[in-house]
Amino acid sequence: MKKIVIALDGYSSCGKSTTAKLVAAALGYAYIDTGAMYRAVTLYFLDHHVSLTNPKEVKEALSNIEIDFHYNPKTNRNEVFLNGLNVEDEIRKMYISNQVSEVSVVAEVRRAMVSQQQKMGKKRGVVMDGRDIGTAVFPDAEVKIFMTADVDTRAKRRQVELLEKKQLVNLGEIKQNLQKRDHIDSTREESPLRRAKDAALLDTSHMTIDEQVDFVLEKVTSALISE
Ligand code: DC
Repeated sequence: MKKIVIALDGYSSCGKSTTAKLVAAALGYAYIDTGAMYRAVTLYFLDHHVSLTNPKEVKEALSNIEIDFHYNPKTNRNEVFLNGLNVEDEIRKMYISNQVSEVSVVAEVRRAMVSQQQKMGKKRGVVMDGRDIGTAVFPDAEVKIFMTADVDTRAKRRQVELLEKKQLVNLGEIKQNLQKRDHIDSTREESPLRRAKDAALLDTSHMTIDEQVDFVLEKVTSALISE
């Protein structure tokens, strides 16, 4: 059967990665979490005190960054490696969430990540989640979904996720972070977060994960039938 690209874009913490992972598993596709790549770059920039306003420093830092994903059978997930080091847990911490949108605004950073993501999905058969997959990375994706949910639902879901990772963060702080990121992500100049014209809207505020997965798989079936 023909392999396609499934682009899942949308606001922070509305269930993109959980849905994407399950859709990828159901189809035997690769799952690429592009937010993890921006988070890994942010971690490197913070560790190396890279100034975002110094193009030379940014360029040099990017040339020293290698990001890969490796499947970990123990945790049953794809984990992110930065220059050979597993940074999966570190990049989910609040200090990274608080900086990642500012780093993602930098045009040079976006160019490097988009080009790497296009290489990763070249053979198709991928589910990619992010902010600009259907608009900039794979504008020709066969299935495009734009996910959203009300901010209180998202903040609560994020709090539970963090708690599962033994991070206790108050709801107000999480909500503030989500709103700030939404704002920066949607108003930046380079490939802002926006719904592609041909993306289906999926509001997950009152949906279970199974319902979200079914919604996407139905779009996949339609896309494959119409090929
Ligand atoms: O999906 P996430 O919340 O882990 O993403 C973290 C940040 O990375 C998000 O606030 C904006 C940025 N990002 C982006 O600019 N483009 C993408 N394709 C994915 C994430």
